Amino acid sequence: MYYPDEIIEEVRNKNDIVDVIGSYVKIQKKGSSYFGLCPFHNEKSPSFSVSGHKQIYYCFGCGAGGNVIRFIMNYENYTFQEAVKYLAERAGVTLPEVEFTEEARQKQSKRDKLLEINKEAARYFYYQLRTDRGKQGRDYFTRRELSEETMKKFGLGYALKTPNDLTLYLKNKGYSDDLLVEAGISAFDERFGLHDKFWNRVIFPIQDINHKVIGFGGRVMGDGTPKYLNSPETMVFDKSRNLYGLNFARTSRAGNFILCEGYMDVIAMHQAGFTQAVASLGTAFTSGQASLLKRYTDEVLLSYDSDGAGTKAALRALEILKEAGLTGKIINLEPYKDPDEFMKHLGKEAFEERIKQAENSFLFEIRMLKREFNLEDPEDKTKFHKEIARKLCGFEIEVERENYIQAVAREYDIGFENLRRLVNRYAAQTGGAKPVERPKSGIKKRQTVEDHKKRTQRMLLTWLTDEPEIYRQISKYIKPSDFTEELYGRVAQMLFADLSEGNYNPAAILSRFTEEEEQREVASMFHTKLEGIETKQDKEKALRDIVYAVKKNSYEYYTGKLGTDVSALQQVIDGKRALEELAKVHILLS
Ligand code: GTP
Ligand code: MN
Repeated sequence: MYYPDEIIEEVRNKNDIVDVIGSYVKIQKKGSSYFGLCPFHNEKSPSFSVSGHKQIYYCFGCGAGGNVIRFIMNYENYTFQEAVKYLAERAGVTLPEVEFTEEARQKQSKRDKLLEINKEAARYFYYQLRTDRGKQGRDYFTRRELSEETMKKFGLGYALKTPNDLTLYLKNKGYSDDLLVEAGISAFDERFGLHDKFWNRVIFPIQDINHKVIGFGGRVMGDGTPKYLNSPETMVFDKSRNLYGLNFARTSRAGNFILCEGYMDVIAMHQAGFTQAVASLGTAFTSGQASLLKRYTDEVLLSYDSDGAGTKAALRALEILKEAGLTGKIINLEPYKDPDEFMKHLGKEAFEERIKQAENSFLFEIRMLKREFNLEDPEDKTKFHKEIARKLCGFEIEVERENYIQAVAREYDIGFENLRRLVNRYAAQTGGAKPVERPKSGIKKRQTVEDHKKRTQRMLLTWLTDEPEIYRQISKYIKPSDFTEELYGRVAQMLFADLSEGNYNPAAILSRFTEEEEQREVASMFHTKLEGIETKQDKEKALRDIVYAVKKNSYEYYTGKLGTDVSALQQVIDGKRALEELAKVHILLS
């Protein structure tokens, strides 16, 4: 960590979370917190809460949560350092420069320089498109039915026919040859010396999710090759971790993304109002891109070319989506080649219809599989059925598997029972998947008991952060060690230590957890509320019950550890006393 903890605390303290989040998300006061639509997942009714009191945000819908620094990291896609820097600037806190290692500082300034060059180049291309010399480019885009507004939104540009105009322009601004090459804007060869990478092409600037230009795609305006030329990967341009159009798509409220193959597809889609369209960057879709999408949605609709290569790429993309835990569906573009052409010929209502009819990924896979077999031939047909059975084994949940067996049996006219038997036989043979079997009763129950225990512990922690004044009474019965979940125990330790000294700072507790997953979980510990309590008596009784339940769980937990854990005995004795007392007393709230 480059900055000392005190500085980070200062930055956090000087950036009120309600102010900061309020500038990104529309939030409204409701009770003691503010509520709004969660920026990290798509929703229609607000479950995203921001507490000024706790200085924490938490989404009851998707579980996103953390303090103001985490919010900026996730919203702006910043690293921890970048988020701190941003918030420090916002609040006028001066950060100590010396804390950066020399290497880190140089790297950062190199990144800044490369971004600066990309920005200058983007401005240059943008300008050229709008001059006389750029007429050919403008005509090209117009022929492709792009409006002025669309050209502007995507910052489209034009690279001149001359070989080094841009290079000279940037050199005049003081950038060194090496830096221009490293930025991917210029290239060097024997014949031309240092020259522009792009010439005589229309230009598509590629932006990261914060709208920073990180590279370019350039297309020939006729039939030349290569059709598209892309910037090479650089320190700021990682093709496997960025997506074209995501800077706009991430704030679309469509609830899904539409993944296309080409830049022109994305642009045509956005122009038609499908602002959730994105595309990979001239390379195949990667798992890094899938996890980027996963931050915002669970559903991705593929809108790949309808030719053989497109289908193959779609099948591969589906696999990657599945691995990332995303649901993939396929949009049928027939009889057109790609979304751009579809839109041109049939328009957006027709596309809307195709979205509604998007095919489930499994059924798509089977349909594509079918093409490899001659179903007139009994032997081939058997192979096809076996292959289906093998694929069906992939569904581990019984109901799901059964539903798919049913759907496939119907679609391909195979007897349901026959297909099911084939699947079970296959599963038994390979041991690959579970043969049809009811889950043992009890498994589920045990799980909910576990969940219930955690939930009770969370409720008590939330209560303590909502009303820290109960600490005095609670601490008679409850110690941090009563929170038997490891992470809960750690949080309780910190919270109790603070409260016993009369401090109260949940957001600072959150800061001590650096992993995003942990931060989310800690945020959830401070946001587990009891519903439906009306009177003060209800409340007192509820609090007593929760304290009792937490203590009882702890008592049972340590009883189970007697004999293996020397400290358990004291806990058990202590627990027994507290439980007896709690059975008699009321906790009185002021
Ligand atoms: P248009 O003909 O402009 O409509 O292109 P398209 O969007 O239909 O492109 P196509 O389906 O041919 O290619 C899809 C994407 O692959 C493009 O947007 C590029 O990112 C990339 N691509 C296409 N051709 C080339 C090429 O020759 N070289 C490289 N590196 N990438 C290419
Ligand atoms: Mn096209």
